[in-house]
Amino acid sequence: MSTTTPIDKQDLLTSKQMATFVAKGFLRFDEFIEPDLNAAIMREIDAGTLKAAPAGTPLDECYPDPSPLGHMLRLPKVQGIIQSLVGPGSLFDHHAIHVRQANEGAAQGMHGDSIIDTRMHFDIQLMYFPHDVPLEMGGTLVVPGSHFRRINEMDIARYQNLLGQVPMVCKAGTLLALHHGIWHCGRQNKTDKPRYMYKIRLNPTVRQLRLWNTEDLTEEVKKNKPIFTREQNAVEDVQTILGRTEPWFEDAAGRLEIVNRIKLWRFLTGDNNFDVHYWLTRLENMPENRLMAA
Ligand SMILES: [Fe+2]
Repeated sequence: MSTTTPIDKQDLLTSKQMATFVAKGFLRFDEFIEPDLNAAIMREIDAGTLKAAPAGTPLDECYPDPSPLGHMLRLPKVQGIIQSLVGPGSLFDHHAIHVRQANEGAAQGMHGDSIIDTRMHFDIQLMYFPHDVPLEMGGTLVVPGSHFRRINEMDIARYQNLLGQVPMVCKAGTLLALHHGIWHCGRQNKTDKPRYMYKIRLNPTVRQLRLWNTEDLTEEVKKNKPIFTREQNAVEDVQTILGRTEPWFEDAAGRLEIVNRIKLWRFLTGDNNFDVHYWLTRLENMPENRLMAA
């Protein structure tokens, strides 16, 4: 499948998955890739034949057949994730085979993967785990909801552990889709086997506007009211997902993070009236402008 081939709706993300990405900065797909393909990709990695394309190359032109890794990236269910987040025709930015050596003595410092980036548009990074990663192997660690805390590379390396962090303990074939701003690091491998993780960064070439399967969005939009009712709060709707706090959020219930989520959700849906509680509407209230318009 080409990256510009129309995707079956069933392979695209749902609005709730997109809201989870906006809230947490990542989506996780456990045991997503078949064992045979995982094994073939491990052989390709070990053979050292994976070639990086120049930055800015259309993903379509990367990893031509018979590359098992290219085959994995072209699976409709993987393309569904990619195209829901960055659309058709995305560009290869860079890739890396990250290896944590057996009994490596140190963990990687916590970091973001680029310099301070103030765009509302976002790149994604796919992380693919070709073999099982038990906790003692020190998988990649991500900090849910950290993607709006704009930082410069390793400026946060002093932080070793944060409440709510997710160490990637997973089975072979697991895929992570990350917002480019998320805080993460590679944990120390305490086993006698090296640990592998393949990462690719992709840039969008289209406006990131309702690229996923939006069939469930109409119902969600109907639910959009300025203030939660008790009943609404109990339902797993987009507002609930975007209003859910992470354990590391400050006492003020993470309002800053939630306001940033609302802004990104508005950007992605084109619905400039969307709100969670009344938080962004309150900030936009400019009474003097109403007087001028009267
Ligand atoms: Fe990184």
